[in-house]
Amino acid sequence: MTEISVPKGLVGVIVDKTAICTTDAEGNLVYRGYKTVDLVSKKTFEEVAYLIVHGDLPDRNQLKEFNEMLVKNGEIDSRVLKVIDLLKERDIMKNLRSMISLYPYSTADASHMLPEIISKVPGIIAHSYASVTGKKVGNSDAPTYSGRFYQMITGNSDSRKSEFLSKLMILYMEHEFNASTFVLRVAASTLTDPASAFTSALGTLKGPLHGGANAEILDFFKSFRNEEEAVKFVDSQLESGKKVMGFGHRVYKQKDPRAQLVKQLMKELNPDSKELRIAEAIEARVWEKKHLPANLDFYAAILMDQLGIPQDLYTAIFAAARVFGWWAHYEEQLSDNKLIRPSSEYVGKKDRVL
Ligand code: ACO
Repeated sequence: MTEISVPKGLVGVIVDKTAICTTDAEGNLVYRGYKTVDLVSKKTFEEVAYLIVHGDLPDRNQLKEFNEMLVKNGEIDSRVLKVIDLLKERDIMKNLRSMISLYPYSTADASHMLPEIISKVPGIIAHSYASVTGKKVGNSDAPTYSGRFYQMITGNSDSRKSEFLSKLMILYMEHEFNASTFVLRVAASTLTDPASAFTSALGTLKGPLHGGANAEILDFFKSFRNEEEAVKFVDSQLESGKKVMGFGHRVYKQKDPRAQLVKQLMKELNPDSKELRIAEAIEARVWEKKHLPANLDFYAAILMDQLGIPQDLYTAIFAAARVFGWWAHYEEQLSDNKLIRPSSEYVGKKDRVL
């Protein structure tokens, strides 16, 4: 076996093929051949989820069956609800990871277990949040995954806000070999079950350099009264060598197309907001000083705040969308599987004698 060395962090290394998602030469994010800018404006969350999982957009019947399947499987086992209530865990991602792992699925067959896992994500998130706030889980009579999810976590059925959240979730749904998806594929390559692979991916997504970033952005953003204060903060962070969360990306070095789409959504929702002005001032300053683009999480956090969504749920919302990408990647990995097991260069002590 010939071994090759690759850059640390696998920067720029193509490790496998995928037919699910890519970024085209113009910098558009593309799902199964369609630009996400078009999907966000013309298709629903569930149509795009079907596209990601099955490869093509659904016809009317396929969409109906898909929606029914996600709603039917969404009920949460009463024993799991008891554990959620007993733990009252504030870290919703930790709880989601744990509950997906212990859930008593009705089947061990991967093709059935995958939709079963995904259908339960909104309920687990909503019940976890309710267990710590003491509020009730919102009534969920919506016939779709994203509609139900919005109702359950916010307790209201504002269809305009719900639609904005689903558009954001379309952008969170898939992003080729990002860290959590790669971990899921490593797990799937061992032929482990989907729940174990999803648990690994959820644990990875929650890290602050990945999905966890969106939960940290409001910590600093909310304190600014105007653009000047925001710019001062950026300068002091960069001067002291600290990161500004929501900036930089492994793939996007000029512009994250998803961040720009979310900015457009913010402009539609609330065109003259102070938050938008402050966000744009931060974006311009980080670019001027460090040449780093705002990433999806930066604008997503501010949009979710404007939609009235509690900060504790931000990373879990990312997860509730990304699970569809993981479903597709789990199946793609197994369709042409090879165990993912790289080598390492040993730099430890040698020839020690006892
Ligand atoms: N603020 C300040 N400086 C930064 C930032 C940032 N947010 N991001 C990168 N840099 C700096 C690095 O310190 C490094 O500087 P140097 O060359 O002087 O050492 C340079 O920019 C290159 O950065 P790397 O960390 O090498 O870039 P990499 O591709 O490895 O990392 C990452 C990408 C992890 C996203 C990084 O930009 C980061 O930590 N950003 C903040 C966390 C964040 O927003 N994560 C969300 C990612 S998007 C998502 O998950 C949807």
